[in-house]
Amino acid sequence: MHEALLEVRGVTLQYKTREHLVTATYRVDFQVLRSDRFVLLGPSGCGKSTLLKAVGGYMAPTEGEITLKGRRIDRPGPDRMMVFQEFDQLLPWKTVRQNVMFPLLASGKLPVRDAEAKAMQYIDKVNLSKFADSYPHTLSGGMKQRVAIARGMAMEPDILLMDEPFAALDALTRRKMQEELLQLWDDTQFTVLFVTHSIAEAITIGNRILLMSPHPGQVKAELDSVPREMAGGEAAKALEIRIHDLLFADAVEEEAPHV
Ligand SMILES: Nc1ncnc2c1ncn2[C@@H]1O[C@H](COP(=O)(O)OP(=O)(O)OP(=O)(O)O)[C@@H](O)[C@H]1O
Ligand SMILES: [Mg+2]
Repeated sequence: MHEALLEVRGVTLQYKTREHLVTATYRVDFQVLRSDRFVLLGPSGCGKSTLLKAVGGYMAPTEGEITLKGRRIDRPGPDRMMVFQEFDQLLPWKTVRQNVMFPLLASGKLPVRDAEAKAMQYIDKVNLSKFADSYPHTLSGGMKQRVAIARGMAMEPDILLMDEPFAALDALTRRKMQEELLQLWDDTQFTVLFVTHSIAEAITIGNRILLMSPHPGQVKAELDSVPREMAGGEAAKALEIRIHDLLFADAVEEEAPHV
């Protein structure tokens, strides 16, 4: 039933600044299957955002390759939509509806009337129908993130890329947004590649979790078949401890990511 959608093979990613060559990730391998909620988990600086940039097509590997449905990624495309941590990712001069319509129109995917219907469908999915004509500055952080998620999902991409989308929210809103994301997933089983440095969030969101080591980011371990609905329970606590041990087994001096 499942098929490999995204393949990351031996991917080394580097930044060349005038003085330095920074190796962000080193020979990273993983495969995202259709309908996976695949989480990249690791401490700050391990190259999670850099990997997402490369999957987004904004950065080329110096080694290895990334393919989507068997085709090498060499540029950004409407088949991959990104949701960021920052609340200011929306266009401030456009309403919620116009923001969600924007990529549908800019990519030429749909004519105006269809784009509007599609946008409203996804605005409804994130419970913001009443705010379709509101401007971003009148919304809370959580609402803005819902708009960004609706905008990404409305494009019905092959894969949704989410870089710590809830990290700037307060704990309660964050929890609510995690639940909402899972409800959306229950609805359409979209494929998501989700970045976090919170072990608890990784367990809540992911059905599969890739554990990464810092400087340069390498794969430490991969956990498959993480059960749903375990947040807060004893099983979740045990898994958190196991992940913590895996992440920091040979790096006791490293600062632990917050849980
Ligand atoms: N534009 C850049 N130029 C040079 N080095 C960079 C650049 N962006 C990131 N780096 C470096 O690459 C490494 C990986 O950074 P990245 O932002 O991918 O980490 P991250 O895992 O997303 O961290 P965080 O959890 O803090 O967001 C770090 O050492 C960082 O300093
Ligand atoms: Mg990051």
